[in-house]
Amino acid sequence: MSDPAAEAQRRVWTIGDYPVVARHLLPISVETVAAIGVRPGDRVLDVGVGSGNAAIEAARRGASVTGIDLTPAQIERARARCASAGVEVDLRVGDAAALDVLDASFDVVLSVMGVIFAPDHVRAAAELARACRPDGTVAITAWARGGWADRWRAQVAHLVPAPPPGGPMPDEWGDPAEVIRRLADAGLDATVEERSFAFRFPSVETAVDVFLSAAGPFVQFMEAASALGRSQEARQELLGAVVESNAAGDGGCELPAPYLLAVAKP
Ligand SMILES: C[S@@+](CC[C@H](N)C(=O)[O-])C[C@H]1O[C@@H](n2cnc3c(N)ncnc32)[C@H](O)[C@@H]1O
Repeated sequence: MSDPAAEAQRRVWTIGDYPVVARHLLPISVETVAAIGVRPGDRVLDVGVGSGNAAIEAARRGASVTGIDLTPAQIERARARCASAGVEVDLRVGDAAALDVLDASFDVVLSVMGVIFAPDHVRAAAELARACRPDGTVAITAWARGGWADRWRAQVAHLVPAPPPGGPMPDEWGDPAEVIRRLADAGLDATVEERSFAFRFPSVETAVDVFLSAAGPFVQFMEAASALGRSQEARQELLGAVVESNAAGDGGCELPAPYLLAVAKP
């Protein structure tokens, strides 16, 4: 039987042009792989691999990498990027809450803005722990509270219906104490640090254009607003959120989006 929450997730990461978003997010994967110190020969599992950012980075360091994602279109994008990057990654469709991997089979289990989208966060955290060797490392990232991810959603929430219950709640992972608690419940001892990141565009208008054409959650928001005849209003609200969040002083656009990096040991 198909799971409506999983179907909705697959759709949101299929629409738009995710590789454009991935180019913006790449520094987060580079920093995460560096922070863990992935080494040649490490067996690395990337959960919510998307179009391959962290997996490719780890493979370039000589790791043996497996990437799993719920969305078949993302796995196809990752395959294409791995091929053009000249790295081999074992890529598979699968669910973070039921990983098709053996117990304790990876030295590093990482998830860059991936596992936070699994609705069942208890099972997802338990699966990260199960896949990791007793002396291995689990690392996940999540958007920190109060950054761009929160700001735009808050600004446009009045325009479209709230998402149905039972879906992912990625913002819940944005609180360091909550991340530590969730990972501790899975038997993982985590330290969490907040790191800075910003989306950068030549102008505020470009930012709106890129989000609305490439980023699934924004494309989906605009679809919902258009269905209600509110597309003009939706674009204006989004532009307002961009203008208010813009931290660039030079006519450009810089949207601060700090993130949490949790590094945990079993
Ligand atoms: C924001 S993207 C991040 C992708 C990639 N890690 C990156 O940094 O570009 C979130 C990804 O998580 C995947 N995802 C969502 N729920 C998932 C689940 N339950 N299991 C595995 N992957 C999931 C989505 O399909 C999507 O590719």
